[in-house]
Amino acid sequence: MGVLVANCGEIAHMSSGDASKPLVGAAMMDKETNVHPPGMGILMSDSSIVRIADSESLCSEFAPWWDGSDTTMGETRVLDAAGKAVIPGLIDSHTHLLWGGDRSSEMRLRQAGMSYRDIAEAGGGIAKTVRSTRGLSVDELTEIGISRVNQATRTGTTVMEAKSGYGLDTESELRLLQAIYDVNQYSNATILPTWLGAHDFPNRRSRDEYLGELLSEQIPAVAKQGIAMWTDVFCEEGWYSNEETEDIVRAAAEYGIPSRLHVDEFTDSGGLALAAELGAVSGDHAAKSSHESRQAAADIGTMQTFLPGTPLVLGLPMDAPLASCIENDWAFSIATDFNPNCRILSMPFIGSLITTRMGMDPFAALVAASRNPATTLDQPDVTGTIAQGSKADLSVIWSDSVDGWCQTPGENPISSTIIDGSIVNSNN
Ligand code: NIG
Ligand code: FE
Repeated sequence: MGVLVANCGEIAHMSSGDASKPLVGAAMMDKETNVHPPGMGILMSDSSIVRIADSESLCSEFAPWWDGSDTTMGETRVLDAAGKAVIPGLIDSHTHLLWGGDRSSEMRLRQAGMSYRDIAEAGGGIAKTVRSTRGLSVDELTEIGISRVNQATRTGTTVMEAKSGYGLDTESELRLLQAIYDVNQYSNATILPTWLGAHDFPNRRSRDEYLGELLSEQIPAVAKQGIAMWTDVFCEEGWYSNEETEDIVRAAAEYGIPSRLHVDEFTDSGGLALAAELGAVSGDHAAKSSHESRQAAADIGTMQTFLPGTPLVLGLPMDAPLASCIENDWAFSIATDFNPNCRILSMPFIGSLITTRMGMDPFAALVAASRNPATTLDQPDVTGTIAQGSKADLSVIWSDSVDGWCQTPGENPISSTIIDGSIVNSNN
């Protein structure tokens, strides 16, 4: 069965140059070489894109019977884009997908002047979510995860990284990873698991004892389970130090597990520089990192991933220097950081934050939500592009222009989403 998307408006194909590399600098805004003009069609077969060509000729060759309505005949289904723009499947490369409970009450604490750290010290924050997550079974976690992934898919996400990190003991962390694996089996979207046992220190255990468990028990158990693709550490003043982060990353690397790290969210501890030194695929948050750390990350190929939803919900300035990333040709991505404190599953909403609040060009924002994060995922078929041979993951949006992908913050910009060549979602 194939789908033919006919009468496309602009198509953000994103495939200029070497598509296995991120776009940087002025190339991130270069619509000339990364967008097809209106009037083309996209033919998919099974899970791949097989042809992108003039819509009329594709229709006469593959659906000569087509009468202009959404119809299926024989092996081909025609989806009429009716001049609407097409964007690649969105890639959310940083989420804390699985947890139970509710942290809504923390808003009033923040408004009363407590910081994220103050709330954590008072027993809220990650520790509170750990208490409400540990009791959940794999099946309960999986059910929660599927419904969240379905929600993300409605706003165009087709690939999502998902972290453990609300277990903080070996058994609970393995359970979370198993649930992430199961969510992937039952979802249309691709869900890629990261182990984040070093998200916080559990209550009632000494720091040293937990560090010992991470290094000599959790990492070997996670490696044996064989689900986690990456290791992550909350490397931040007040949580894991640079030295502790290094020990954990190196121990995981011995089992062949690479890293993507939380760094420099509230203060610059040199976390991004450390991520680069350790060869992490990505340094995330990176809001406070120095110019030198950013240069080091760019030199080594560590992606800077910005998560503007977090400063939004915490009432902090959104001051990651996106303009200097463009100016200095530093590769960057954006992601939701979906977590109990930042309940954003919509990549278009994150796009709207960086365009309206941080001055970013809407097309560059789309690059940062598709091709660029794809390069960190080690999935040869996930390219974040719309090109012949690439995975058939894309969305038709409610705009003639691909720039419309992130300009309806209170409304869903997605008309239809196709994953693996099948229409999974139609918001008509
Ligand atoms: O990336 N900063 C660490 N982890 C999450 C927040 C987790 C939580 O507050 O539950 C983040 O923002
Ligand atoms: Fe996070």
